[in-house]
Formats: sequence, structure tokens, C-alpha cells
Amino acid sequence: MFSESRLNQINEIVKRYPEGRHKSALLPVLHLAQEDHGWLSIDTMNEVAGVLNLEPIEVYEVASFYTMFHLKPVGKYVLEVCRTGPCCTVGAEELVQYIEDKLHIQVGETTADGLFTLKTVECLAACGTGPVLQIGPEYKYRENLTPQKIDELIDELRAKG
Ligand code: FES
Repeated sequence: MFSESRLNQINEIVKRYPEGRHKSALLPVLHLAQEDHGWLSIDTMNEVAGVLNLEPIEVYEVASFYTMFHLKPVGKYVLEVCRTGPCCTVGAEELVQYIEDKLHIQVGETTADGLFTLKTVECLAACGTGPVLQIGPEYKYRENLTPQKIDELIDELRAKG
């Protein structure tokens, strides 16, 4: 359930759009819901549909389209590696394989300690500095990646806990 302060925030977001265009508030509201819960369960998406007066299917189709929304629980850090053409030409696929081997998970999975989830995403608009990944939930970029930089990143995030 959204808190009262969240509901006030949602009302403010809805007011940004013209009468009858409340569906435009869906993306920012889904971000708030994910911030509250860490991921978007069916119950959470149904609640979003309720507060925005939308059909649940309208929420599911948007949430399942964008990779920034998680439809199952994720780890504390979500490693989202760009797997679009330009990054692939400079080793993104090999890097994904390296991360899978290092963390003993496949793309879409979370480590047993709940620390890391690995995802692949479309272009992160940093094509000139690929391979690149962003680290959710704060969406910080790491660029010009190499296996050594991945090792350092994993160590750094493990140390932060
Ligand atoms: Fe990877 Fe654009 S192709 S950031």
C-alpha cells in the first residue's frame, strides 16, 4: 500500500498532465512504486492501476516493456550491461559471460547472498565508452569496462555490503 505521503506525491504528478491524460503519470508512479518495494509485484502493479484509474493490463504492458522495471525481486545491486551492437563490437558479450562466471549466475538471476542481479539492457547512450554497465538502483555508469574493472567493481560493492 502506498503511504499517505506517496499518495500526495502521486496526486502532484497526476496534476502535471491535462485532464483525462492521467495515464501519462504511469512511468513516474511505477518508479515510485519500485523505490518503495524494490520490484514490481502483480499486487503492486494492481495498486498502481487503482490509484491511476487504469486497467491492470495497461500497467503490466508498460512495466514489462522497460528494462528498468523489475518484475521479480532483485539483489541490492543490479548490474545492467549494455548488449546493443556498438558495445558488442568492443566485447560486451564476453563481459557478460565473464560476470556470469564470476558471480555464478546467468543473466536475469540474483546471487545467493542477494547482493547482485545481472541484467542486459539496450543502449545506455554511452556508445563511445563501451563496454558499459549501469549499477541500479542509483543508475551509476561504469565505462570502458574490462574484466579487471569488473573485478574491482565487484570487490568495491561487496565491501560496501
Ligand atoms: Fe552500448 Fe550504446 S551501444 S551504450
